Amino acid sequence: MEIKLNLPQSAYSVHIGELPNLAFETKVAIITNNKIAGLWLGDVLQKLRAKSVVIVTLKDGEEYKNMASIEEILNSLFNEKFDRKSLLIALGGGVISDMTGFAAAIYQRGINFINIPTTLLAQVDASVGGKTGVNNAFGKNLIGAFWQPKAVYCDTKFLSTLPKREISAGIAEAIKMAVMFDKGFFEFFENHDLKAQSELEFVIKKCVEIKADVVSKDEKEAGIRAVLNYGHTFAHVIENETKYSHFLHGEAVGIGMNMANSLALKLGLIDKNEQESVKNVLIKFEIPTSYKIPNLERFYEAFFLDKKSAANKIKFILPNKIGNFIMRDDIEKRVIMDVLREFSESEK
Ligand SMILES: NC(=O)c1ccc[n+]([C@@H]2O[C@H](COP(=O)([O-])OP(=O)(O)OC[C@H]3O[C@@H](n4cnc5c(N)ncnc54)[C@H](O)[C@@H]3O)[C@@H](O)[C@H]2O)c1
Ligand SMILES: [Zn+2]
Repeated sequence: MEIKLNLPQSAYSVHIGELPNLAFETKVAIITNNKIAGLWLGDVLQKLRAKSVVIVTLKDGEEYKNMASIEEILNSLFNEKFDRKSLLIALGGGVISDMTGFAAAIYQRGINFINIPTTLLAQVDASVGGKTGVNNAFGKNLIGAFWQPKAVYCDTKFLSTLPKREISAGIAEAIKMAVMFDKGFFEFFENHDLKAQSELEFVIKKCVEIKADVVSKDEKEAGIRAVLNYGHTFAHVIENETKYSHFLHGEAVGIGMNMANSLALKLGLIDKNEQESVKNVLIKFEIPTSYKIPNLERFYEAFFLDKKSAANKIKFILPNKIGNFIMRDDIEKRVIMDVLREFSESEK
């Protein structure tokens, strides 16, 4: 199965299904980490033909998504005399694809790269759309570039070694797309347990189609692409307060969606049944929905540190019935505090 992205400067396909044989006449570097290399590098190498193949193995973890790792990638490319026709292949989750894409964007002013995502989160979200970059002391993803891959290959066999929590975190981002854009797709999560490979492939296909559509309308996030941040305004504060060590990103997004839905309920955008049905689907896939806010005022102030909160206005992406969205930056502090209070008093 192949889904095409048509962007003003580039066009590429996302292939869903078994990884095919890949042949290149250029030098290729596979960027991966020590964990994934141990599990899947041999498999991928068997399918790859190229002029030469270099492996760059980084340390595993979001804490290594930084400029030092980018330097490490670039130095390997210079050592191996990569030129502007050479190719990078990201083999890993979102951390690896974000860094590989960024290294590709800046090596000799830009070379090609391909994504082979090995986490569900990367297959449904991170590997498509061309946002690349790293973290620094000032925050997450603050350094980066828009740089599109030449192709993406999503093979669900890689997910067979992924821990259950990581699967749930990926499902959270998929539910995000369903609640924003497609009621029928949301009902799929209500009616299926995603244990079968065919069900997972269906979810990946739907998410890639939605993301392809959104990104082709708004590559640089001037408008509708921001809708993919549903749940994230809250999630970023939670991740920050818990020092990125307690929740996986997708788990924090689960809680964030539940918080956003409480706000949507207060504003009359969804009803109690709809709020409950999203929460029930999250719980069904073992995605957390509760977080006890320790300090309400501090949580509220932290919204303004988000790079998406321009000009002292907090932008909330909310469901407007399931399958539709609305962006609001005019919500009174009093209303927001009422929602936060619900999450400080009890486990919601
Ligand atoms: N560019 C985008 O549009 C975009 C979108 C969403 C998220 N992101 C970024 O993606 C990152 C999160 O991605 P992630 O959730 O994939 O995390 P990750 O890349 O850290 O992977 C999660 C963990 O799973 C391991 N792993 C990967 N594949 C595996 C496999 N097949 N079997 C066993 N273990 C495996 C990794 O080594 C890691 O320990 C964040 O840095 C986030 O900022 C980017
Ligand atoms: Zn996310």
